[in-house]
Amino acid sequence: MYILGIETSCDETSVAIIENNRVLVNLVSSQMFHKLYGGVVPELSSRAHLEQLFPLIRESLKTAGLQIEDIDIIAATAGPGLIGALMVGYNSGKTIAHSLGKQFFPVNHIEGHMFSGFIGRENISYPVLNLTVSGGHTILSVLNSPTSINILGSTLDDAAGEAFDKVAKLTGMGYPGGPAIQNYASKGNEGKISFPVASLKSKYDFSFSGLKTAVLRYIQANYKNGELPGEDEKSDIALAFQNSAINSLINPVKFALKNHKFRSLSLNGGVAANKKLRESFKNIAEKNSLELLIPDFEYCGDNAAMIAIRAKLLNDSGVKINYLKYEPFPSFRSEFLENNM
Ligand SMILES: Nc1ncnc2c1ncn2[C@@H]1O[C@H](COP(=O)(O)OP(=O)(O)OP(=O)(O)O)[C@@H](O)[C@H]1O
Ligand SMILES: [Mg+2]
Repeated sequence: MYILGIETSCDETSVAIIENNRVLVNLVSSQMFHKLYGGVVPELSSRAHLEQLFPLIRESLKTAGLQIEDIDIIAATAGPGLIGALMVGYNSGKTIAHSLGKQFFPVNHIEGHMFSGFIGRENISYPVLNLTVSGGHTILSVLNSPTSINILGSTLDDAAGEAFDKVAKLTGMGYPGGPAIQNYASKGNEGKISFPVASLKSKYDFSFSGLKTAVLRYIQANYKNGELPGEDEKSDIALAFQNSAINSLINPVKFALKNHKFRSLSLNGGVAANKKLRESFKNIAEKNSLELLIPDFEYCGDNAAMIAIRAKLLNDSGVKINYLKYEPFPSFRSEFLENNM
């Protein structure tokens, strides 16, 4: 079974081909030009997807040694994301599938992240306690099966990735924020600075706006007239921020482990590329005898392999989607959510 996945929800055009659970090829073209504007420009993103998508589809088929006729299922991200960007990948995939008489799967981008740790794995032990930490979402969920998801909690304000990006911007650490902070933090002195960890009434939820404001106040108090911290100071700030952000992420995970029984622990989304966060999850999994599901680095940020795997899981579960009646959508929703636990 060959599945061709297409991802165009934001500023990465990605095409992948999987054969069963195995990724044959996963190509990602990142639109770096948005740096010039300080954020993603939706119209420019859509146009760049249009330019990139078909060359990537051709290249992926060539790399996998396949013809488009060999593909069994085409899957494309339907949302959430920038609607114009989604339309490019979604309508292209749908049209190719429809014209060749292939099956087409609309795939939820966040569900793609949620199940990205399943890439290359045969048997998953459910229930899975899952933390998805990306640029736009921070969601703690329980995966009971590929078609049953309970949301335990989510962020009350900023997403974790957004906090990394904003803090990197306001301290002059560069872009993209996550890798820049990780890099500075690796050179920081432990304990020199500390920032608060959000303590919320709802123990499964997250909050990053207080942490972001604490960093801003620190900069305002210590650096005048738009001056930025020096390299050593940036390292100490990055380490203090990263420690706080990671504690804010793992506290709800530990709380869930105290209150429910799980067999696996999963971490995914762009922020799952963070080495310290990965280490923390490894330690928690070992301590609680849980199977650990963390995707390889290339499947943490946006990628089409996770879209193809999600389609495979849905197809294996017997899910049928009437794609002719299905439309791309901008905000998170899911057909597979159960009532909250
Ligand atoms: N090493 C790292 N440490 C922390 N954060 C990281 C690291 N690498 C990447 N990130 C963060 O991951 C985020 C991007 O993740 P992703 O591509 O999954 O988000 P998105 O697709 O924009 O949002 P969403 O999936 O919610 O729609 C960025 O905020 C980036 O800073
Ligand atoms: Mg994403």
